[in-house]
Amino acid sequence: MKRAFLLAGSASYTLSPAMHNAAFRALGARAHYEALALAAAELPEAVARLRDPGCLGANVTIPHKLAVVPLLDTLSEAARATGAVNTIVNRGGALEGHNTDAAGFMRALKEDGGYDPAGQEVVLLGAGGSARAVAYALLRSGVARLAVYNRTLERAHALARALGPYGELEVLSPAQLKGRVRSAALLVNTTSVGLSGVQEGASPLPEDALPRAMVCDIIYRPPQTTLLKRASAAGLAVQNGLPMLVYQGAEALTLWTGLPAPVAVMRAAAEAALA
Ligand code: ATR
Repeated sequence: MKRAFLLAGSASYTLSPAMHNAAFRALGARAHYEALALAAAELPEAVARLRDPGCLGANVTIPHKLAVVPLLDTLSEAARATGAVNTIVNRGGALEGHNTDAAGFMRALKEDGGYDPAGQEVVLLGAGGSARAVAYALLRSGVARLAVYNRTLERAHALARALGPYGELEVLSPAQLKGRVRSAALLVNTTSVGLSGVQEGASPLPEDALPRAMVCDIIYRPPQTTLLKRASAAGLAVQNGLPMLVYQGAEALTLWTGLPAPVAVMRAAAEAALA
C-alpha cells in the first residue's frame, strides 16, 4: 500500500482526503491519502519521511506552503515563480516541489468556465499565496493586461516584483479600482473576503463594480459568495473555487501516479464531502 499525505496546520477541514481516496479507488491503485496536522516545528521530520519508498508524496497547505521550499531537492518552474509548493513528489528518495494551484486555476477557467483569458484585460484581488499562483497562471496564459489590487498595497507591489520575470503586473490604488474593474473582462477574487466563518456575506470590492464578462472567486464555501451572486444577477459568467480545487488535486495525482486523473470522480467526492 502506497501512501500520500496532506501536510496541513489543522486537518479539521479538508476535502482532499475524500477526493484523493476516491480517485485511488477508481484507478484501482493500492494507495491511501491521509491529512496530517503539523506544527511548524514538526514539518522537517514529516517532509523527511516523504522520502520513504512507500510514499508517493504529499500536498501542502496553509500554513506550510512557503516553509517546505528549503526542505526539497528541486522545484518546478511554477513553484519557483510563486515561491510556494502545494505538491511534493517522491522520485526515488528525491523530493520535487510543484505548485499545481496555478495549472489547476487555468484548467478550471478554460475547461469548466469555457473562458480563455488570452488577450483579455484582467483584475486580480488579493496578494497572498493563492494570488501568486493565479497571477503566474494568468501571465503565462498571455493576458493582455493584468492589474492587482490588495488591501495592503505593499503586498501587491511585492507580488508584482516577484512575478516580474513573467510579465507586467500593474498595482492599482483604491481610487483606480472601480474604473479598472469595469473595463476588465475578467475579475478574480483570491482574498478571503466572503469566506464562510470568516467574513461571510462581505464583498471584496469596496464599490459595486463588475467586469464585462466573468467573475471567478476561489472561495467554494459558501458556493456562491456575495460577489458571485451580484455578478450572476448582472448576467455575467461566474465560477467558484471548487473546480480549481479539483484540478489542482487532479494535477497532483497525475504527478504522483503518472496516470490521468479521474476528474469526475474527484469532483463528485469533493462535492459530497462539502455537503
Ligand atoms: P492565501 O494563501 O489563501 O492567498 P493569505 O496569504 O492569507 O491567503 O491572503 C489572504 C488575502 O486576503 C490577502 O490578499 C489579504 O489582504 P492583506 O494582504 O491586506 O492582508 C486578503 N484579505 C483578508 N481579509 C481581508 C479584508 N477584510 N479586506 C480585504 N482583504 C482581505
